[in-house]
Amino acid sequence: MASVPSLASTVQQRLADGLSAALPEAASADPLLRRSDRADFQANGILALAKQLKGNPRELATKVVDAIPANDVLKEIEVSGPGFLNITVTDSAIVETLAARAADARLGVPFNESAGTTVIDYAQPNVAKEMHVGHLRSAVIGAAMVEILEFTGESVVRRHHIGDWGTQFGMLIQYLIEHPHELDHKADGEGADASGEEAMSNLNRLYKASRTLFDSDEEFKTRARARVVDLQAGEPETLALWQRFVDESKIYFYSVFEKLDMDIDDPDIVGESGYNDMLAETCRILEESGVAVRSEGALCVFFDDVKGPDGNPTPLIVQKSDGGFGYAATDLSAIRDRVQNLKATSLLYVVDARQSLHFKMVFETARRAGWLNDDVKAVQLAFGTVLGKDGKPFKTREGETVRLVDLLDEAVDRATTVVREKAEKVGLSESEIVENGRFVGIGAVKYADLSASAARDYKFDLDQMVSLNGDTSVYLQYAYARIRSIFGKAGDRTPLAHPELELAPAERALGLHLDQFGEVISETAAEYAPHKLAAYLYQLASLYTTFYDQCPVIKPEPAQEVAENRLFLCDLTARTLHQGMALLGIRTPERL
Ligand code: ARG
Repeated sequence: MASVPSLASTVQQRLADGLSAALPEAASADPLLRRSDRADFQANGILALAKQLKGNPRELATKVVDAIPANDVLKEIEVSGPGFLNITVTDSAIVETLAARAADARLGVPFNESAGTTVIDYAQPNVAKEMHVGHLRSAVIGAAMVEILEFTGESVVRRHHIGDWGTQFGMLIQYLIEHPHELDHKADGEGADASGEEAMSNLNRLYKASRTLFDSDEEFKTRARARVVDLQAGEPETLALWQRFVDESKIYFYSVFEKLDMDIDDPDIVGESGYNDMLAETCRILEESGVAVRSEGALCVFFDDVKGPDGNPTPLIVQKSDGGFGYAATDLSAIRDRVQNLKATSLLYVVDARQSLHFKMVFETARRAGWLNDDVKAVQLAFGTVLGKDGKPFKTREGETVRLVDLLDEAVDRATTVVREKAEKVGLSESEIVENGRFVGIGAVKYADLSASAARDYKFDLDQMVSLNGDTSVYLQYAYARIRSIFGKAGDRTPLAHPELELAPAERALGLHLDQFGEVISETAAEYAPHKLAAYLYQLASLYTTFYDQCPVIKPEPAQEVAENRLFLCDLTARTLHQGMALLGIRTPERL
């Protein structure tokens, strides 16, 4: 496996060489190179440099250009405007670089030299509760970040911080003790889907019934509260019943994750309860170090810049005045565990933006306590709200939260219809139609979630998501399948790079874009911004479409070398699409 320097980095290096030859005192200046429409690249750095040196930018630019030694990468450097450099690379440099990428299983993408260990907190639904679109976002964005970071060489530890603790369990457990068969499975359901559905409907029914009783029956309420005390004391029978709720919920979670075509491993599910043993110690450390103080009996951390509507400071409550621990104590303990035991260098939390204040306070507290510092950072990858077509938070007509499974099933139904329409032409069997329908439908949902910057709210619009035109995963999947089908028609012609050939404009544009894959990956990873990879892939498919329209591969039959070189571009495009989509958690069926 060899990493391949991109043309941009090679050009950047040549310019830097020219700069230091022409102006040794400016050797460290950045030429500020970027892709450009005018030429292949444009460099603007000389403008700022000239200003700094109080020189004439055009003269300086000319001097730099003259100082660049002759080479086979740069075809033309033109000094333009006030002192930009417009740079064109040779066709052979493009094809040679791409050939080096094609020879590598990682498409020449380098490993991050300063890789560390990232703990990603994502896909964290709550026990005994239905999953909703917010949980979808965390799961989809988190899973993509796991793949992307691992691809760059980062060690990734997954943590599913499920909501499996809290006073509501007193009520649920007490109800189950009094109605012992409420969690039994009645139907002999087929597969994960059916048992997941049944588990959730049992839990739902039990949740509602126990809540009703709790609100209307004082004696039940008293028994439920006593049960919370038993649970916290670790009383075995109570704990065993609590475990049943967790196990039952996991049956349901796994059925949804399977629907989402997502691998979640049991050891990575470390819910809130997993930190119970640390809570008291966390509070003790915070109190002894003075990071947290007692205020009206509660253990609190105060911040200058966090105030309530009345202007009074709003503290982070680590321990309530009745001695109970909450969400914050758990998250602070989780930070200690992740930093001290898992040896994390980065903590990434894929959580709804509505929890941003919580994380701001938790991270700041952890910094004051020394758990986070210059070597260990914590970041919330905060995501926005999923809206209905009307632009309001997504609800059913009855005003209830939309069940995630219903949405996913509908997406798959719609996608299957789309796939079926074209199936005959492609010759797909019924089982292929069903499988592709799943890949297209789930891919559509994931892509819609990933293709806009996470912080933005987005409208859940299935019609748009499964549309064949536009920035959708289906468009990308079709592009991929179309390329694959070409290989079926190529006969004895096989992909082969021909650096000696002159390239058509659409070939150059596609080639230069293919060459940027590694840079996009490293940017996407460094900024925790999967939408950058999605945007790259969409543009790749668009450039491919233009190339395919303008540069015949099979018919009319081009010369042997031209056909081989085009097939080579097709192949590298397909591999790049496949790899990029896989990092986003989206399948690329071979035939569609
Ligand atoms: N279970 C929470 C929810 O459904 C999300 C947990 C986020 N992670 C964390 N470490 N607090 O909103």
